[in-house]
Amino acid sequence: MKKLGSVIEAQQFDKETLEKIFSTANQMEKSPPSGLLKGKIMTSLFYEPSTRTRLSFESAMQRLGGEVIGTENAREFSSKAKGESLEDSIRVVSSYCDIIVLRYYKEGGAERAKKFSSVPIINAGDGIGQHPTQALLDLYTIKKCFSRIKKLKIALIGDLMNGRTVRSLCYFLAKHYPDNHIYFISPEQTRMKDDIKSYLDKHNLKWEERKNFNSIISDIDIFYQTRVQKERFEGNIEVYKEIMKSSEGIYITRDTLKKMKSKACILHPLPRVSEIKYDVDGDKRAKYFDQAKNGVYVRMALLKMILAGY
Ligand code: CP
Repeated sequence: MKKLGSVIEAQQFDKETLEKIFSTANQMEKSPPSGLLKGKIMTSLFYEPSTRTRLSFESAMQRLGGEVIGTENAREFSSKAKGESLEDSIRVVSSYCDIIVLRYYKEGGAERAKKFSSVPIINAGDGIGQHPTQALLDLYTIKKCFSRIKKLKIALIGDLMNGRTVRSLCYFLAKHYPDNHIYFISPEQTRMKDDIKSYLDKHNLKWEERKNFNSIISDIDIFYQTRVQKERFEGNIEVYKEIMKSSEGIYITRDTLKKMKSKACILHPLPRVSEIKYDVDGDKRAKYFDQAKNGVYVRMALLKMILAGY
């Protein structure tokens, strides 16, 4: 019996483990085993706000019979507010539980935590770094939509510079699914960073960059829309407003739907602000709420594989 360890970044996974995560998530969706993690405790330690990641992990743990402790606003309600370092908090908290799900506001937070933890750490988002479990549920959703992760034209849209979900997704696609085509579609100010472009090049995944999707709407299979990450523009509200203005041309609207393939799929890690209009939600191609629900199954799979083995 093998056990998965900490989940820190997308690049750590091999293809076999990925396939095992997806097949386990599928089992969790069809017939979840109750009581599998009875007696285990998960801490959710969130230094940044979250709805989906925290609550889907907590739901996943409880559905498997485990228990949850934690704090949703660790910057204010943990001893961080008294000046305690992440390292000290992790040393202590890891003696209270079997696994820690950590969202931190700086890149590298999960990696730092892993060095001081006696239990596995799951990176639930580290600043503008990565969000590997989100990308796993994105891939699981893509597999469900298309029955494959190849020969797809994938448009990653929005704040690609600050979006940690698209970064993790690119790492997974490049390493394991290079037979796809990525379009980076963003305002000039929030273009995808060069480290990701180099990683894609290294793995021969073809990509191109565009200011909008107008001329390629009917070619795209996946519209992966993202929010402008307001929290990364603190003290720069004018820049944020300018980017919001430049983003209007890449919003998904009823008009976009008219030009899309009938089998296209619209994804979004959520929360959304204005970038997908509410009247798009009823369209059968809008899969972002299914995507959020898939988070529970993928996170159940991860908790099982880490705490009970596979
Ligand atoms: N997708 C995602 O990470 O959502 P939350 O910020 O609500 O967890």
